[in-house]
Amino acid sequence: MNEQKIDPRPSTLDNDRILRAARGEATDQTPVWMMRQAGRYLPEYQAVRAEHSFFEVVGTPELAAEVTLQPVERFPVDAAIIFSDILVIPQALGLEVQMVSGKGPHFPAPLTEPEELSRLASDPDLDAELGHVYEALALTRRRLEGRVPLIGFAGAPWTLMAYMVEGGGSKSFRQARRWLWAHPEDAHALLGTLTDLIAAYLVRQAGAGAQLVQVFDSHAGLLGEETFEHFALPYLARIAERFKAAHPDVPAIVFAKGAPYALDALAATDYDAISLDWTMDPRAARDTVGDRAALQGNLDPCALYAAPGEIRRQVDAMLERFGPHAHVANLGHGMLPDHDPAHAAAFVDAVHELSGRW
Ligand code: CP3
Repeated sequence: MNEQKIDPRPSTLDNDRILRAARGEATDQTPVWMMRQAGRYLPEYQAVRAEHSFFEVVGTPELAAEVTLQPVERFPVDAAIIFSDILVIPQALGLEVQMVSGKGPHFPAPLTEPEELSRLASDPDLDAELGHVYEALALTRRRLEGRVPLIGFAGAPWTLMAYMVEGGGSKSFRQARRWLWAHPEDAHALLGTLTDLIAAYLVRQAGAGAQLVQVFDSHAGLLGEETFEHFALPYLARIAERFKAAHPDVPAIVFAKGAPYALDALAATDYDAISLDWTMDPRAARDTVGDRAALQGNLDPCALYAAPGEIRRQVDAMLERFGPHAHVANLGHGMLPDHDPAHAAAFVDAVHELSGRW
């Protein structure tokens, strides 16, 4: 009998386009996936949610793996993204987070003043708190059987701080932004704590099976250029540095939504790819970034409300603006709950068909 331990995760991939494109290498077609590709617009996701709460799905590796695979079974996407949420880090720090249907995340007891920082767990055991995510990654890797790479992710320090202080979604995140000016030292302390955890969490995700990672700074656009340079950029850079030191071959993507002024500085960090929202011009972004990073994006999610023929024309224009190299096609933000899955299919198919012409 062969006593050798067999790694249950296949080391070869049938499709590694996204890894190649993120590293700036040539691909036969432009790889494509969609942020929030597993979610409420899929009836099969709704069926799981009818039986289980959101955080129950996140916390149960079997369910998280099932939902992660749903878009991969339905569309020829070039990657799976692990089903979880950026708010698992605030939870690991001891803050309660509820997901209110139709409203989004709600923190019953947010960090209203710096004194409340003492409520946070001082040195949370990530393996104990987030072991379910690592298990979900390992399980999903096995079930993928090398079909496409698996993406891990985390929220960026500023975006997590915004939710932790504000207590939920908000148009202006006034309370969180107030902290940056009223309590800059406490803000830096919180951002530093989050940075250490996020970096360790991403390193562990890659150890558990993630083949690419993305950091979501969804609320970067609330900061101005200078505030971003002060309160977001150094922490984002530190996360990339630590992650790449541990996993030099695993590509890392950063998405600073709404912050076009950040592109030049982000290109100087260790991220392999920069994700653009739909308001950013890919040609201008490429001029700024040069060959320092791959680019991801950036169709307006609302373009998926158009008829499939129009979606195809929009994809054609998008591919033209990015060009054939170092581009990972995606939306400029996530899928929306009332999107039609057939229109997502039109988007994915158009990327493959129209990029194959090059
Ligand atoms: O992309 C994927 O398919 C993977 C899963 C994923 C989710 N959240 C599942 C989810 C990912 C990558 C996220 C990231 C996330 N979560 C971000 C960054 C990306 C972005 O959208 O800017 C943010 C800001 C969050 C926090 C969060 N979680 C919000 C604001 C909401 C509510 C908004 C909404 O769409 O309802 C969530 C809930 C959430 N996270 C859902 C899903 C599928 C819907 C919850 C449900 O099923 O009821």
